[in-house]
Amino acid sequence: MQREFEVLVWGATGFTGRLVAEHLAKYYGDNRPLRWAVGGRNQAKVERLSEELDAPSGRIPFVIGDSHDRASLDEIVRRTSVVCSTVGPYARHGSELVAACVEHGTHYCDISGEVQWMREMIDRHEAAARQSGARIVHCCGFDSIPSDLGCFFLQQYVQAEHDAVCRHVQLRVREMRGAFSGGTVASLLHVLDECRRDPRVRRIVEDPYALNPAGMREGPDGPDCPAVRWDHDLHAWTAPFVMAPINTRVVRRTNALLNYPYGRDFRYDEAVLKQGGPIGWASAKSLSTGLKLFLAAATARPTRAILRKWVLPSPGQGPSAAQRENGFFRIQLVGKTDPDAPGHWSAFVSGESDPGYGTTAGMLAECAVCLAQDADQVSVAGGFWTPASCFGMTLVPRLEARAGMRFTVQPDLSAGGPS
Ligand SMILES: NC(=O)c1ccc[n+]([C@@H]2O[C@H](COP(=O)([O-])OP(=O)(O)OC[C@H]3O[C@@H](n4cnc5c(N)ncnc54)[C@H](OP(=O)(O)O)[C@@H]3O)[C@@H](O)[C@H]2O)c1
Repeated sequence: MQREFEVLVWGATGFTGRLVAEHLAKYYGDNRPLRWAVGGRNQAKVERLSEELDAPSGRIPFVIGDSHDRASLDEIVRRTSVVCSTVGPYARHGSELVAACVEHGTHYCDISGEVQWMREMIDRHEAAARQSGARIVHCCGFDSIPSDLGCFFLQQYVQAEHDAVCRHVQLRVREMRGAFSGGTVASLLHVLDECRRDPRVRRIVEDPYALNPAGMREGPDGPDCPAVRWDHDLHAWTAPFVMAPINTRVVRRTNALLNYPYGRDFRYDEAVLKQGGPIGWASAKSLSTGLKLFLAAATARPTRAILRKWVLPSPGQGPSAAQRENGFFRIQLVGKTDPDAPGHWSAFVSGESDPGYGTTAGMLAECAVCLAQDADQVSVAGGFWTPASCFGMTLVPRLEARAGMRFTVQPDLSAGGPS
């Protein structure tokens, strides 16, 4: 039976939620009709947003509930085909909504990057989601679509054109400009708190295969590399990438969920690419040291209080429209069929606005619409999927047409790729 709303943006009054709603208002009006709604906990705020959204289809319907009031969530998700949620930290506010979606067979996507929470949701609800038919897809933002879909895209190309598989893929962030929102900061601090309080959570977060299905949590990759390293293929220094501890788990889960199309010995890592020579080393070293200092300061109570008061954005805040416009990212995925032999390909994934908000809003919105309207192409059963294992190549044209992203591939490893 058709449900009242095809897509609901839950948390639409938040910083990222509003951008997701604006994306839908811009692209899914009269000529691409979509029955969609916005939702949140504060009636006055949600009502104001629904009036302000400049949608060609007129005023956007809204629903009111609370992430901790299960009855209100049940009522909302029963009326909806796909919920896309930006209410975070997810470990604090997201569990009841996932449970409600699983129970009522409502598809769900989000932009969580909280590995310990996703693992808890998978462990608790995977069996029930298979039964109800609910497709649950975490990580539909900057973490981890460029990594997960970029790797899938590269593997598809190499398979189709060369009948081969890249057993080793390395993602390198070549260029990026972006900022954090208060919600992202709150989620990061929450993960650090949970790790400090509970050694079991810390072990999950540090496990390179934490998101793989039970019985498939092993492979050749070790812990994330915290150090400056030399990249022998791109001839430059690399520094740790802050999103790697999330993205790598998602890419490995995709490989496991799809029954190891990249091979059981598939190896994957991510880093930020700097230049060669002493300047490149110094730049990589300062990024790596800065990241360590930031994490230490965010963990210790006195320095965290100072960061919160003077440095970090509060919930609801984030990069301005001008900052989002000026943001961008360009990443390269280098794939090799044999890690020790020549023969390699590069995929490039880029975005034209702030990765965490401009492009992320488009990514999450397009994932939700894809779940709602591309049923003929997205054929996976109920369960917990990654973006690549759920949407596969179906998502690529959507992201290129409406989220300012580009996916390209080229065989020449030495080139810097398309500009
Ligand atoms: N993966 C990525 O690339 C990526 C990028 C950006 C953000 N994120 C994640 O997205 C999440 C949101 O970030 P943000 O900066 O948009 O946060 P935000 O501005 O603080 O927004 C949070 C939203 O959650 C709502 N909310 C809080 N408690 C609620 C409750 N009990 N019931 C219903 N709604 C509730 C807030 O409602 P009110 O407006 O009423 O306060 C607000 O709409 C964070 O977890 C962040 O890490 C991920």
